[in-house]
Amino acid sequence: MHRYNSIIFATLLWVASVIGKEMTDIEALGAQPSHCTYEYAYDMYGAHCAGRRLGKIPKLRTGIEILDFSDNKLQELTSETLSSYSSIKFLYLADNHIYTIDEDALSPLTDLQTLDLSNNVILELPNSIFQLPSLRKLYLRGNPIFHKSSELTIDKPIKAPLDLLDISDCKMKELPDWGYLPQLAFYNISHNPLTSLNTEHFTVMCNLEKVDLTESINNMKLCSIRSTVLWFQEKRVFFQLEDYSKLNTRQFQNCPVPEDSGNFNATYHRCKAEYLQVQSIKTSRRTWLTIGGGLAGFLVGFMLLLYVMHRHNVAQTKTTAEKLKQAKPANDPDKNATAVLLGDVS
Ligand SMILES: *[C@@H]1O[C@H](CO)[C@@H](O)[C@H](O)[C@H]1NC(C)=O
Ligand SMILES: *[C@@H]1O[C@H](CO)[C@@H](O)[C@H](O)[C@H]1NC(C)=O
Repeated sequence: MHRYNSIIFATLLWVASVIGKEMTDIEALGAQPSHCTYEYAYDMYGAHCAGRRLGKIPKLRTGIEILDFSDNKLQELTSETLSSYSSIKFLYLADNHIYTIDEDALSPLTDLQTLDLSNNVILELPNSIFQLPSLRKLYLRGNPIFHKSSELTIDKPIKAPLDLLDISDCKMKELPDWGYLPQLAFYNISHNPLTSLNTEHFTVMCNLEKVDLTESINNMKLCSIRSTVLWFQEKRVFFQLEDYSKLNTRQFQNCPVPEDSGNFNATYHRCKAEYLQVQSIKTSRRTWLTIGGGLAGFLVGFMLLLYVMHRHNVAQTKTTAEKLKQAKPANDPDKNATAVLLGDVS
């Protein structure tokens, strides 16, 4: 009898624990915040909505500079989606289900510096993205955008001062023609089934530091990349491959080098000139800002000085007046004294 009791008790305990466990799982689901949280990071105000299973961006506080909406279920970016948040500088929309972006969906974000659209299902990009005036980092990794790259035409020149462009794993056979990208330093074109690698493509990127070509040149004939590899070596561009050993073969060393490489340097130098011009505009703007700031500071200081001097004068006049006032009663005893003296005399 006692044994049965303990068995029943153990079973009950087990059932309870299973139910309990299930309850906590369900509770955990329910307890996941469905709303965004806000916080200050890097001196900026940000909304964090990552991993909330949201199909829409809820109404957020205006003035946010960071929006992390990664890992949700967003499907489209229309002209209304972000129009109230034009102060956003960092926008993370990776791992959503975005398949369409309206032409003017991102145009209001004139301060946008980083845009992460990785791992969505975007087939077509609005040209306006490349015209965002502050955009420096653009992640398009893992989207089928470029799979029909012949249909993709990019308005040139690109206004966005891109220094990082990630178009890895985009099912690309051909690299798109960007035109000049004078600020680009990091270019990720890895994991694409590229069929060619033209040197011209890289001569318009005269500040390139690193290209990731991992798993992207395996469909090409070895000799067809020789000219580009030489260019990277000449301009000290670090290029990443999964295996460099084939570049050390005699076959590669003996590949014929095309003769028409004269224009490469011309394009490269035009790009450099453009880059220097942008830099000098930036520095001259900075110089003028400094001069303007200095002048304003001087004027404010001067006004302050004048004010202080004015206050000092007023105070001095007051004290002299008060001294005069105080001087009167001080004279009185003398007068009395004289009176007394006079009285004594009389
Ligand atoms: C380029 O992208 C791939 C995958 O998309 C990533 O694994 C790799 O780290 C990136 N390369 C660099 C240099 O960041
Ligand atoms: C480009 O110019 C450099 C010198 O500035 C020269 O060494 C190099 O051979 C030229 N490269 C090409 C591809 O013409």
